[in-house]
Amino acid sequence: MASRTVPLVDLGKQHAALRPEIDAAIAGVIDSGRFILGPEVATFEEELAQACDAKFTVGVSSGTDALLLALMALGVGPGDEVVTSAFTFFATAGVIARLGAKPVFADIEEESFNLDPSAALAASGSQTTALMPVNLYGRLASLPKTDIPIIEDAAQSVGCGTPRGLAAGYSFFPTKNVGALGDAGAVATNDADFADKLKLLRTHGGRPKYFHEAVGGNFRIDALQAAVLRIKLRMLEDWNQARRANAARYSELFAGSGVEEVKTPQDSPEHIYHQYTICVPKRDELRTHLKEQGIATEIYYPQPLHLQECFSDLGYKAGSLPNTEKAAEQALSLPVHQHLDADDQEYVTKQVAAFYGK
Ligand SMILES: Cc1ncc(COP(=O)(O)O)c(C=O)c1O
Repeated sequence: MASRTVPLVDLGKQHAALRPEIDAAIAGVIDSGRFILGPEVATFEEELAQACDAKFTVGVSSGTDALLLALMALGVGPGDEVVTSAFTFFATAGVIARLGAKPVFADIEEESFNLDPSAALAASGSQTTALMPVNLYGRLASLPKTDIPIIEDAAQSVGCGTPRGLAAGYSFFPTKNVGALGDAGAVATNDADFADKLKLLRTHGGRPKYFHEAVGGNFRIDALQAAVLRIKLRMLEDWNQARRANAARYSELFAGSGVEEVKTPQDSPEHIYHQYTICVPKRDELRTHLKEQGIATEIYYPQPLHLQECFSDLGYKAGSLPNTEKAAEQALSLPVHQHLDADDQEYVTKQVAAFYGK
C-alpha cells in the first residue's frame, strides 16, 4: 500500500474552490437562453485576448478545431505541405492531413523538446504553405526567421504571451492549464483580416446567415463553456505561477538528490509548465515503480507521429528523427499542477531517487 497518492491533475480541488461562481455562471447562461455565440462568447473572447496579449481571439469547439480552422483560413489544401514536429499530440498533424495537405516532420531540439527552427527551414520547400511549431509542455518554441506563415500549436501554452506568428491555437481540454468542463478551444491572432476569416469559417462561411461566401464548418465554442472559462481565466496567472514554482522546486530537489540519471527540463522565463517532463533511462520501469507508490505519471508521447501507422505512406522510418525518437523513449511527465504541495513533491523526488538506488 502506497503511503501517499499524488494525482497527475486535481480537478476536484480546482473546482471545489470555484464551484459557487461556476454554478452561478451556468445558471446565468441557462436563464439567458443564449447557448450559441451571443454576449457570453463575445466577452470571453475579449477577456481571453487581454489575458493572451492578442488583438483578437475566436472561441472554437476544441484545440483541434482551433488548428484546423487556422489552417483553413490560411487556405491550406491538397498539394500543400505544412512543416511541424512529430513529438506532439496527434491533432497537430491530423488537421494537416484532414485538409488533404502533407505533414512534413522535422526533428526537435533535444533540450527544449520543440521543433528545431533550422531543421524546420531545411524541411521547407516550394510547396510549404505553413510552419506549425508546437509549444510543447508550455514552453515556447524558438521560431525561425521566415516569410512562411506560422501557426503556433499553443494548445499547451495558454498565457505564454502574444501569438508570435500569424495565429496561435489554444486548447481548453479539461486538464489543460485552463480547462473547460468539456471540449473548447480558441484561435488568437493580431491580424484583423485573419480574425475576420476565422469568424466567417467558424459558422459555415455564411455571411449574412444562409448566404455562403466560403465553405467553413461548425466550429463554435458553447456559451456554457465560455461562461465557465471566463471564471477560470481570472486564475490563469496565479495558476501558471504556481506551476512555475512547483517546477523550480522539483529541479532543486532533483539537483540535491544525487540522482544522475534524471535530466530535468530546461527552464525559460515564459515556461508555464503544462507538464514537468524529465528524461530518464529505464523510463517504463520507473513509471511502474511510481505507480506502485501511488504517484501518477504520463508519457507524452510514446509513439512519435512520423512512425504512426496512419502516416506510413509518408516514408519515414525509425531513425529518421533521432531527437524525437529519443524523447519518445525517455520522457516522463510528473505531477506539477497548481494544487500540489511541497510534501507531495518531496515524496515524488524521493521515490524517483529510490528507484535509481539513492
Ligand atoms: C499539442 C496539442 N495539440 C493539439 C491538441 C488538441 O486539443 P483538443 O484536445 O482540445 O482538441 C492538444 C490537446 O490535447 C495538444 O496537447
